[in-house]
Amino acid sequence: DPPRPAVTGVAALKADGADCGSHWETSVGVVPYGFCVRSHGEAVRILCLLVEKMKRPNLVTSLLQSTFLFFLLSVSIVYAQPLPPPKFDGFVYGKHRVDWDAIQIEAFLDPVCPDSRDAWPPLKQVLALYGDRVWLLVHLLPLPYHDNAFVASRALHIVNGISNHHYTFKLLEWFFKYQEKFYNAQTRNLTRTEVVNEIVKSATQVVGSSYLGTLESGFNDRKTDLKTRVSFKYSAARGVYGTPTFFINGFQLPDAGSPLDFNGWKTIIDPLIGNKTTKNSDNMHYFL
Ligand SMILES: *[C@@H]1O[C@H](CO)[C@@H](O)[C@H](O)[C@H]1NC(C)=O
Ligand SMILES: *[C@@H]1O[C@H](CO)[C@@H](O)[C@H](O)[C@H]1NC(C)=O
Repeated sequence: DPPRPAVTGVAALKADGADCGSHWETSVGVVPYGFCVRSHGEAVRILCLLVEKMKRPNLVTSLLQSTFLFFLLSVSIVYAQPLPPPKFDGFVYGKHRVDWDAIQIEAFLDPVCPDSRDAWPPLKQVLALYGDRVWLLVHLLPLPYHDNAFVASRALHIVNGISNHHYTFKLLEWFFKYQEKFYNAQTRNLTRTEVVNEIVKSATQVVGSSYLGTLESGFNDRKTDLKTRVSFKYSAARGVYGTPTFFINGFQLPDAGSPLDFNGWKTIIDPLIGNKTTKNSDNMHYFL
């Protein structure tokens, strides 16, 4: 008998999907092409089928030849987020109207990520230098290994709902400045409620005490939770898994996960706007 193939199961499970656990033991399978299962029942049906088919040797051999041995199981049980969302994800920086001839910078940031924090000042310098020839769209990517990234991102979505978008970036900058308070180690002994209360208190100081009620109710409003999920899902859909990650006119810059300094930005943007004084004509290698 040929040795039985090792089985790889990659499961993306929601932490609050309480009844995922009971089916975990059956979640072994070999699927020729990575795919996504949308419902719990569907997942269990497919798993049973696979386990049954695995017992037949000829199928095992053909599966061995398959390139992809990943089984991507995405079980979302508690809330299903209807996609696409009603509004495109992201916060547009600044007041000026978006000009489609301008260079679009998309930044995927996590408010409690130190590299995102370090990337922010040079990015602001770039926006100040190039004015309306560039525009910035910030997407939030709350990284799952940053315990408070989701609530921090949710606070930004709540504040963004207060019509004045200026507040969103004020609060983002506040997070960058004081993010250490919300690192994993620093909040190990705090409950989630304590962290949320701390964020509400601080955000109120940033946007004004008249918004206390808005912030408090925002954390109980499912819509803001869903918006934050959309941000995460949008990032995942773009293949982004680290912060900061930048895209220029839709193309990703290399070195995702590390901040780009001011000169790095100039080297990339100058040639795009036809500023010949920058000598580095090699920069298109980033894209090609
Ligand atoms: C958390 O609690 C433990 C045990 O009381 C203590 O040793 C530790 O210093 C606390 N950590 C923080 C960040 O407060
Ligand atoms: C063009 O590049 C030069 C040299 O780096 C710089 O001094 C100048 O500010 C740039 N112009 C713009 C509009 O960025």
